[in-house]
Amino acid sequence: MKKSLIILSLALVAACTSKQVALQDRLIVHDAEINAIIAQMSLEEKVEMLHSKTNMSSEGVPRLGIQDIKYADGPFGIREEGVPNGFQSAGWVTDSATYFPTGSALAATWSKELAYKYGTGMGTEARKRGKDVILGPAINIQRLPVGGRTYEYFSEDPVLTAALAVDYTKGVQDAGTAACVKHFALNNQEMNRGSVNVICNERTMREIYLKAFEAAVKEGGAMAIMPAYNKVGGFYCSENEHLLNEILRGEWGFKGLTVSDWGGTHSTMGAALHGLDVQMTGDTYLGPALIDSVKAGKVPESVVDDKVREILRVRYAVEAIPADKCNLATASQPESRATAYEVATKSVVLLKNNGNILPISKDVKKIAVIGRNAVALTQSGGMGAGVKSVYEVTPLEGLRKKAPAGVEITYAPAYKDYLGMFARWRGPEYLAQHPEIAAEIDEPADPDMLAEALAVAKDADLVIYFFGTNKSIETEGSDRIDIKLPLDQERICAEIAAVNPNIVGVMISGGPCELTEINKYASALVQGWWNGLEGGNALADILYGNIAPSGKLPFTFPVKLEDSPAYALDNYPQKAEVEGDLFGNQYRQDIQGQKKRPMGPTRYPATAYYSEGSLVGYRWFDTKQVPVMYAFGHGLSYVDFEYANIQTKKKKDLIEVSFNLTNKGTMDAEEVAQLYVHRVDATVEWPVKELKAFDRISLKAGETKKVTLTLPVSELRYWDESINDWNLEHGTIDILVGSASDDIRMTTNIAI
Ligand code: BGC
Repeated sequence: MKKSLIILSLALVAACTSKQVALQDRLIVHDAEINAIIAQMSLEEKVEMLHSKTNMSSEGVPRLGIQDIKYADGPFGIREEGVPNGFQSAGWVTDSATYFPTGSALAATWSKELAYKYGTGMGTEARKRGKDVILGPAINIQRLPVGGRTYEYFSEDPVLTAALAVDYTKGVQDAGTAACVKHFALNNQEMNRGSVNVICNERTMREIYLKAFEAAVKEGGAMAIMPAYNKVGGFYCSENEHLLNEILRGEWGFKGLTVSDWGGTHSTMGAALHGLDVQMTGDTYLGPALIDSVKAGKVPESVVDDKVREILRVRYAVEAIPADKCNLATASQPESRATAYEVATKSVVLLKNNGNILPISKDVKKIAVIGRNAVALTQSGGMGAGVKSVYEVTPLEGLRKKAPAGVEITYAPAYKDYLGMFARWRGPEYLAQHPEIAAEIDEPADPDMLAEALAVAKDADLVIYFFGTNKSIETEGSDRIDIKLPLDQERICAEIAAVNPNIVGVMISGGPCELTEINKYASALVQGWWNGLEGGNALADILYGNIAPSGKLPFTFPVKLEDSPAYALDNYPQKAEVEGDLFGNQYRQDIQGQKKRPMGPTRYPATAYYSEGSLVGYRWFDTKQVPVMYAFGHGLSYVDFEYANIQTKKKKDLIEVSFNLTNKGTMDAEEVAQLYVHRVDATVEWPVKELKAFDRISLKAGETKKVTLTLPVSELRYWDESINDWNLEHGTIDILVGSASDDIRMTTNIAI
């Protein structure tokens, strides 16, 4: 009896310590049944499961009653239904979804709780649409300020990204849908994304670029992974033994399915032998050619069985929804819309607020809203990630709706819309018929539009100037050329300032822009993001002071692009010929009925050397002492917060850091407290400081709370290339706690 108790408690201890593995092990509970199914299947039936059936599905086992797997694009709203073999709209009426704030906006909340709710909302709406796998979250590190997918990705920091990725994934999966975490791995640029070969040392890869994927798999239990388009260390991600078999499956214990990015499979033998389960789209490689390879004895049939098993594990874990039980009504749910609003309110970042011009004073009776970004819809565009939103409240609508009684709002667009290359391709006739569309990104302001804007500005007590990019400028498939403000927006602001100096600038974008000029003219600056279907309401609540701003930047705003690491080290843009985007050609052909352009092999493949190592984002600016415009983690409130009385406690393998946080203001507010570490006597090279923990704390006016941040000692380890494993360096570390990476309020230290 005693002996069995001991065994039981040992088993429990083992179960607790291997809790992370247990999440992946949930996928293998039906393996016996699955193996019995595989034993009944012909080779042809098995291979039929390993490639697309339609543009967004892969085959089940019809003879045995096993349903297809249905995929849906995320990551910030379930994408509308497309025609079976492409991306064109299927013209449904039940597929309007909730448009959630995009990735960098979610990240600006620094809230795991909101990431979870967001994931739940996505998962629930996917179920309403009968979808099994959401192609999201998208969690690559924002290495380049110009990155085309900065708005989809979360942050330049792996700890923030990992925390949000875990909870987003859990949320999606707790709602009964599988999350397909993408793009694995090192997809940090869009230029030549279909062929660029990333060369990155193993330590940087593990500590910076793979960390969030590892967390999503081990702590989030992600059931699916999408290998990226690019190569890493010479091999395409969809056939990368090191990434897919050694690390993902071997080290992290991943038991689910891998599905290539669309058009990102490149060979039969490579993909079959080195870790890809499903080719999306087409069957060129994991179709008839694979059957031949098995028959010729080049690929063991057991390899095919392994793939089928991984797919069936996900099929068993996610309940298939019969066609008559889904798509009955609009997918968008009220709870998701409430989450989208909450995320939006907590993501808005107050960058500066000279003379407390915000919140808008009661004395302001006439507001001039200037700038097309105040009315531009942001739910779609950007190529893949777009949502047919059930509605979208623009900033202008939000400001009008929530304006206090007696406040008048006038609007002038001031600058044109810009459709990117789509504008040019449509030709001069189209542009002549659409004078509101600019042919070029740097087209000078139209004199009539400028005059109208100045007249509106002159006549107002306050100008809210909306500027920034749009989804033709920041888009999948290409990076920006620079981070300058487009469409003459700086000059327009300067001219407005000459007639009315009371300017609040609101930037609507997914990534950073150069703000030196605008900074001269705007008293307050706000980062407003692409903030989902409730974005306009949320922004208005912040500007009118109904809610105190509490967003914090998930990436650095450099003073200028050239300061950022990949540029400073001349690692980007690579000096290779820019090819047409691997997927963009197919996509445009589909959507616009354009002539097919060949997706031929790249003649001059580019290599991206990540020679800045782990000095990505603020790690670079801090360590190299390069001044920035707005630092990582920065974000003001309408109140001041006081940090006091820091204490540390070490409990076994956990460091607890506690302190008192007080809201010194007269309104309720939230603060994101951040904990960074600095190694004092390290022999290994480290960035000058690194984020290790954070928490969002809500405080009533005048309230003080004791906050405790925990830091597992294991989080202080580094990837030791000499032993090919994590290693801990003993010594002293400074613990820095504060309101931003450049606003550290308290420091203490601890011996490790
Ligand atoms: C993107 C993926 C997306 C897929 C399907 C690709 O171009 O990189 O993120 O899920 O298309 O739309």
